[in-house]
Amino acid sequence: MHAGLADPGKMSGDARRFVGALAEENASFWRDRDVRLDPNAPPALRLEQIRYRMRQGVYNELRSVELIAAWIPHVPEREIRELLPGQLDDEHRHYRLLRARLVALGEDPDGYRPLPEWEALFDWLCACRTRPTLEKLAMFQFAGETQSCEGFETLIALARDVDPETAELYRAEILPDEYRHAAIGRKALTLLADTPALQARARAACREMNDRIFAAYGAHRARADRGA
Ligand SMILES: [Fe+2]
Ligand SMILES: [Fe+2]
Repeated sequence: MHAGLADPGKMSGDARRFVGALAEENASFWRDRDVRLDPNAPPALRLEQIRYRMRQGVYNELRSVELIAAWIPHVPEREIRELLPGQLDDEHRHYRLLRARLVALGEDPDGYRPLPEWEALFDWLCACRTRPTLEKLAMFQFAGETQSCEGFETLIALARDVDPETAELYRAEILPDEYRHAAIGRKALTLLADTPALQARARAACREMNDRIFAAYGAHRARADRGA
């Protein structure tokens, strides 16, 4: 494995086109598939769905810290590895911000029992630490974080009238970081997916991740609807 990538200036136009096409494929996979929030729900129910997202979000942000820490030693490509501690720091800040917001709303975020499907997703991602950087970053930063930006955009739009303070927290303090994390994924793929075989691996890794997230979204909504 290379410890440093030879010449980023020589990134091929082909890799760039591939990354653009794969982003399109992921976006079309996700069209109408984020079932965690119902835009047509009456305001009280919508607020309950948003609160549920926040409870699970505290857990997800904390597991993201753990996951990135687990991956850093297994990312030999210096140009990519050096971006990860900053991401880890962001995810830890998101954890603290969301947790503090729930406490301010009178909840006990530490008493929340995470959804087993989200637990399994993060356990799996942590266990993927020894997979090639291309596959790991295709899964989490490229596919996962791009989708979470979309999810946060929706959350912000739907929270604006029922909980403007929370909407503003996501808009100002979380979303800009998540766009940066998604950009780390694009950079990794642009640098590393430079043969058809590697591109096929990146595409398969995205598909694997998207399928797993979609399954977790379904379980998430079912549990939110039960009020558990
Ligand atoms: Fe985050
Ligand atoms: Fe993130």
